[in-house]
Amino acid sequence: MSKDLHLSRVIAHRGASAYAPENTLAAMRKAHAMGAQWVEFDVMLTADGEAIIMHDDTLRRTTNGKKRLVAETSYNDIAQLDAGSWFAKQYAQEPVPTLHELLNLLKKLKININLEIKPTVGKEAETAEKSIEILKQFWPVAESPPMISTQSEICLSVVHKIAPELCLGTVIHQWNEPWQNWSQDYACQSVSVNHLILSPEKIMELRKYVKYVLAYTVNEPWRAHELFEWGVDSVFSDKPDLLS
Ligand code: G3P
Ligand code: MG
Repeated sequence: MSKDLHLSRVIAHRGASAYAPENTLAAMRKAHAMGAQWVEFDVMLTADGEAIIMHDDTLRRTTNGKKRLVAETSYNDIAQLDAGSWFAKQYAQEPVPTLHELLNLLKKLKININLEIKPTVGKEAETAEKSIEILKQFWPVAESPPMISTQSEICLSVVHKIAPELCLGTVIHQWNEPWQNWSQDYACQSVSVNHLILSPEKIMELRKYVKYVLAYTVNEPWRAHELFEWGVDSVFSDKPDLLS
């Protein structure tokens, strides 16, 4: 069993993504400047197996890389892209960070992490293995226990096998996933749930299986307070200042 995570009420979703381009170093610096104690980010693999920080399968929405698939683009090509202009001119030329670069920054900022493994189809095991390899190499796991989460059963099984000491959790968009089995089979300690499908009853049920119940993505203070009253531990928010 891993150490207590000491989660904060608000976890900065993809960094301070309401105020800076998501999943960039700028978004993480902004989250830290706004007082965030935890940040969440998404890890995906490039065609040549580099672990980068990216949410979507394609480069279109968050870079100038057009419709190309991340999984079919080399890291050298991705490193040339602008991941900031789509958000605001002041972030022009903000790069897509590698997981290694991101961990180095977050370590300096002394901020806690939720690493979400976001594999493309067919690369599940490889993405999980690479994420954990880099995490173990560059993150002070014992000093600052991370939360690892994923929506992929293959990733859950790989992380459970190669790093059972880490706090692992499922991500649930809809109730049709067999989350009870996953929680038991892979010793999950957390569950991150789409807040729109939560109810007080569902939260009570989730609590029978996991230690931490988290809800995403909550950008309204009244909704965060309602979820806390229902028993949610933390909310993922694009606004680290949600409760201030
Ligand atoms: O892990 C919480 C949340 O990040 C899951 O959804 O799509 O924003 O990665 P998504
Ligand atoms: Mg995520």
